[in-house]
Amino acid sequence: MDLFERLTPPSRLLMGPGPISVYPRVLQAMSNQLIGQYDPVMTGYMNQTMALYREVFKTKNEATILIDGTARAGIEAVLVSLVEPGDKVLVPVFGRFGHLLAEIAQRAGADVVSFEVEWGTVVPDSLLEQYIVRHKPKVLALVQGDTSTTMLQPLDGAGELCKKHGVIFYSDATASIVGNEFETDQWQLDAVSVGLQKCLGGPSGSAPVTLSDCAVDRIRQRKHVEAGIRTAQHQSGQLSRIRSNYFDLGMILDYWGDERLNHHTEATSMLFAARECAQINLQEGLPNVIARHKRAGDAMAAGLSAMGLTLFGDLSHKMNNVVGVEIPSYVDGDKVRLAMLSQFNIEIGTSFGPLHGKIWRIGTMGYNARLDTVLLTLVALEALLVQSGGAIKQGAAYQAALEAFGHGEA
Ligand SMILES: Cc1ncc(COP(=O)(O)O)c(C=O)c1O
Repeated sequence: MDLFERLTPPSRLLMGPGPISVYPRVLQAMSNQLIGQYDPVMTGYMNQTMALYREVFKTKNEATILIDGTARAGIEAVLVSLVEPGDKVLVPVFGRFGHLLAEIAQRAGADVVSFEVEWGTVVPDSLLEQYIVRHKPKVLALVQGDTSTTMLQPLDGAGELCKKHGVIFYSDATASIVGNEFETDQWQLDAVSVGLQKCLGGPSGSAPVTLSDCAVDRIRQRKHVEAGIRTAQHQSGQLSRIRSNYFDLGMILDYWGDERLNHHTEATSMLFAARECAQINLQEGLPNVIARHKRAGDAMAAGLSAMGLTLFGDLSHKMNNVVGVEIPSYVDGDKVRLAMLSQFNIEIGTSFGPLHGKIWRIGTMGYNARLDTVLLTLVALEALLVQSGGAIKQGAAYQAALEAFGHGEA
């Protein structure tokens, strides 16, 4: 092992369920020298980032900030800050990430009520309402796009149900934001968290979060400023103190707000990345970005089907940006993934839990939601399946993908 080997990662094309290859502009932004965390230029960037993410989330929420950490840091910050120990939290599960929300809520001390629908389907509003009426939760925590199954949960009906029954509504939209419609205010969400490493087109390590006034009000009631920076003006709230210091959204909001009360040291390079991701997507225009994800996703799905493979799940609820495809019986799924990587430098994904070894997951996200990446992935996969003895109609995937993308002629 050469400890001083120079860093030369291979140039892979990341076509899995995330992370994906990052927009080159984001890499450039991250390579800038640091500035101090209270430098007016830095606080200006923080304010710009808040404003940019209000547009990304489609919200007027003042409380729109970054949590330093991967997407699950955003989930953890929201749940530990909103949920008091003993609060009832309803978590419908339609894939791996529902289980993650349930686990994080449990660790925050919630009394979690969870139910699961078959992986490859989504949760009907009628079932959601039954659970809300029966259990009267304080919070509903619902994933929008679950990459483990590729399903996209409709959220508009859930928002109405939550308002009707006085439930705080939180969604994890990590895998779906900007690749699929998302409307924080219109769908009446109280809290949303995401990550950069999917359709936003950045690296993992920053989790944009937005909070409604109602959510902020609850967090303020749990206010507790840490000793050492607390002054006589800082009164503690009447509800219980948030059980995490790092993820205390009250303190983090004071850091991002006018008071600029010191909390953690903002991860400057990640803020540069997050800010750049938002700019890139907003400059392209969110409707155009979503349409590009749909065209690339449809082209990938059409190509896989034309190859004779079977797509996974309820396709009427598939996310635009990732497709599940059943692994044909004549191959070992992991060996094919390895060959994709070693022979073509292309990464595709496996899946988790009941779907492990049964489906591959192929993503078309962010910078990689393009026709050339779709075609390269399809022809590479086709070559490996043909070599393994699969009865594949050669060239059909390429043609079907071109047509689905809207380029009938090569
Ligand atoms: C829907 C969803 N939520 C949460 C996560 C966790 O993200 P991270 O690995 O950045 O913590 C993922 C990652 O795939 C995801 O797809």
